[in-house]
Amino acid sequence: MDRLIVEGGEPLRGCVRAAGAKNAVLPVLAASLLTDEPLIVHGVPDLRDTATIGRILQGLGVSLTADGSTLTLQADRGGPTEAPYDLVSTMRASVCVLGPLVARRGRARVSMPGGCVFGVRPVDLHVKGLNALGADIRVAGGYLVSTVGQRLEGASIYLGTRFGSSVLATANVLMAATLARGTTRIVNAAMEPEVVQLARLLVAMGARIEGIGGPDLLVEGVERLGGAEVVIGGDRIEAGTFLIGAAMTRGDVTVEGFDPHQLSALFEILGQMGAEVEIEADGARVRADRRLDAMDVTTLPYPGFPTDLQAQVMAAMTVARGISIVTERIFPDRFMHVAELLRLGADIRKEGPQAIVAGRDGLSGATVMASDLRASAALVLAGLVAGGETEIRRVYHIDRGYERIDQRLGLLGARIRRETQPSLDPVSPDW
Ligand code: EPZ
Repeated sequence: MDRLIVEGGEPLRGCVRAAGAKNAVLPVLAASLLTDEPLIVHGVPDLRDTATIGRILQGLGVSLTADGSTLTLQADRGGPTEAPYDLVSTMRASVCVLGPLVARRGRARVSMPGGCVFGVRPVDLHVKGLNALGADIRVAGGYLVSTVGQRLEGASIYLGTRFGSSVLATANVLMAATLARGTTRIVNAAMEPEVVQLARLLVAMGARIEGIGGPDLLVEGVERLGGAEVVIGGDRIEAGTFLIGAAMTRGDVTVEGFDPHQLSALFEILGQMGAEVEIEADGARVRADRRLDAMDVTTLPYPGFPTDLQAQVMAAMTVARGISIVTERIFPDRFMHVAELLRLGADIRKEGPQAIVAGRDGLSGATVMASDLRASAALVLAGLVAGGETEIRRVYHIDRGYERIDQRLGLLGARIRRETQPSLDPVSPDW
């Protein structure tokens, strides 16, 4: 397993381009199952998660050819309908093949994704939504199984949870509804930009969807969808990670190639912490020339502060002046990074879904363990400001969602290197 070694103390400076958004590309690739015409996807990031969804789609009979960061996918109406445990268990987002499978192939056998390090992550909304369309999904032998074999029927579906809506349940139900007979109304749909990108692609494929970007989606089912070509937008979470790094290292970084308005909530916080934020046409610049101030942050559904940047902003708070409070409202147990930040000398107390962070003058390098994707990113950021060397183990987590993070941070002036050992992982990123 690879590990990253970070020598702290260097400010991040320079310009970097955001890679294609991981959470946009995964459902977009799954949408290839909805048509027998080619789907051409540009700007596919080179990540373990895209490799995993590629494997799952190949297992479902989708032909897949890669040319640089462009993928061409082509699926037949018939074909296998099983997404196996070995792949699905490595990536929860694989569940987004369920909607397209039941809509187009009339049957599906998709492994339950199971829990993850930041708690129980149920799929009840996916099941509720697809069952409302007539998919009759049951759980059998650890799999979500549907054997209906007939066309789905439009319905009115409320997709709310006590934490807001669900991104991937919205994606699943939306994809299925495009091919259902009649009208589907999705009430309390997720409004994340990744859902918007998927909806726009579906429209380009011939779907009829109104209300894109809002909480109420109206879908008029069509008989068939055609091929399309799409460019994946820049990854707002990756961009946000680099920009938080700029602020906490008292650096100056411009990230290009993403829509800066998608990060308004982060920029508000960084501005209040004392960083200078410049919004540009195709990105943003963040710089800081002094120690950041403490700030309270609450994660919320889009356009609120994203849970996927909570760990990284907490890393910034560990060296800010004063006491910050982080409240996690999407995944109340998403605090695996706290124990590892403590190893670097941070002062954090966790109380239920909140963490109270007392900023320190500095952190000191140590060996830490990456536990999930964003927690790993937070540890890398903390390593950038810690004195001495920080060794981050199990960085396969970070490779799930950040393209060559060590090389790209290196270009921004970070002293970071990767030590590679033979991979023990079941999935390797080749097509
Ligand atoms: C997506 O996960 C993202 N993943 C996550 O990105 C992100 O953290 C999350 O949305 C929230 O923004 C992808 O897009 C691939 P949810 P998703 O369903 O869709 C509850 C990252 O680091 N819920 O929107 O699985 C759930 O427990 C990650 O890139 C139900 O109760 O998340 C949570 O409290 C990891 N029942 C809330 O809804 C359900 O059936 C939001 O989760 C589904 C979800």
